[in-house]
Amino acid sequence: MAGMLEFPEGFTWGVATSAFQCEGAATSPHSSWTRWEELGNVRAGNRSGIACDWWANAERDFDIARDLGLAALRMSVEWSRVEPGPGRWDERALERYREMAAALRTRGIEPMITLHHFTNPIWFEVSGGFLREDSPDLFTRFSERAVSALEGVCDTWVTFNEPNVYATQGYVTGHFPPGLRGRAGLAARVQANIARAHARTYRRIHELQPDARVGWAHHCVTFRPARPGRRVDRLIARLYDRTFNEPFPSLLRDGRMPASLGGRLAGDLSEARGTYDYVGINVYALMRVAFDVRRRGELFGRRVVPADALRGDPTSDDLFGEPYPQGIADFATRLAELGKPIYVLENGYPDRLDAVRPSVIATAARAMHDAIRSGVDLRGYYHWTLTDNFEWDRGWDLRFGLVELDEHTQERRPRPSARLYSAIAASNGLDESRLGMDFPSIQA
Ligand code: BGC
Repeated sequence: MAGMLEFPEGFTWGVATSAFQCEGAATSPHSSWTRWEELGNVRAGNRSGIACDWWANAERDFDIARDLGLAALRMSVEWSRVEPGPGRWDERALERYREMAAALRTRGIEPMITLHHFTNPIWFEVSGGFLREDSPDLFTRFSERAVSALEGVCDTWVTFNEPNVYATQGYVTGHFPPGLRGRAGLAARVQANIARAHARTYRRIHELQPDARVGWAHHCVTFRPARPGRRVDRLIARLYDRTFNEPFPSLLRDGRMPASLGGRLAGDLSEARGTYDYVGINVYALMRVAFDVRRRGELFGRRVVPADALRGDPTSDDLFGEPYPQGIADFATRLAELGKPIYVLENGYPDRLDAVRPSVIATAARAMHDAIRSGVDLRGYYHWTLTDNFEWDRGWDLRFGLVELDEHTQERRPRPSARLYSAIAASNGLDESRLGMDFPSIQA
């Protein structure tokens, strides 16, 4: 029955972004992704350029976020701008990030800052990235600089965005730098070093800002058997869940790499135990998987998208699967056992026509409401994303924005979803009777 779903007072309605995706490569010569793009690895063949022009004028989009009535914005700091060469610091870059965070505050928007969102300085990437033994300390040294520079304007930090995606895309599928395929062992080592970097950064931030809130963002995918009646498909779905969703949170909970991700090979990780003040979850999709004996490199699984699945931007579903915001309730409930507040730090859908996105937002709100009602301490939702930005190896092909961007003219046009989301934020609730029947329903 349609009604008003009210959220607890103080629930945060925000948006999530990342530095490289909004700032682009043109002004960022030292980033691993600038190099990756130059090497022709963006499948759409297009270039990020100045992206949403944030390096010069993020404030234009901050105005939009304010006008939509949003309370929070998650942005990231591009490491390669801050430390373009090893131990070489660019104070002007830090000053610009400080200015951006302060600009959010003056608009009544709370900044949340991610210290690592997929990109590395080239010097770090080409010398081994997070396979380097000293990578945890190098990253902590950078974080210390960034956090000190942002003292007084930011106290909520995301150390790493999606270590499981970073490791899988860089070392198993090869879609992200360094572009290696089928190297699951390396992916596990990378996640182990990221856990160390996270733990040291967590402690260092608390030394600098005792009241800071520090956590990380975990990407969660709902895996389902493509043919539920087949035992092999059920096994594959379970295996995918075990190797992708489970390891990193249980590593931070227990201070040990689970057996499903290399176990003891990762070395001592006890320093990582309990190093989080909240748990961030990024929830997008449901993926159906079938057993396929020919796919050894993919753990004998094959992705299947049913013909009648909801579709967003062309070419989106082979990567993103089907939109499944209901997964928020499942994962929030699962991860509640980590004993800390939960935030949805990303959820969205690539949909330039905005045909499906309103349902995604409304269904996400319902899922969160269900989770809260069942006792989960879920405190906020950051929609991905505010303005269309550069979607990694898919370039401009996929459009996730509440606001449409013409990247050539830099013109912006809010999509209907922006109005819907703004109304949810203003009333701190979802008025289901206002939704009408125009939107497709999202089912599993
Ligand atoms: C990433 C974002 C990305 C989004 C949509 C997330 O996994 O953190 O950077 O744009 O998914 O693909």
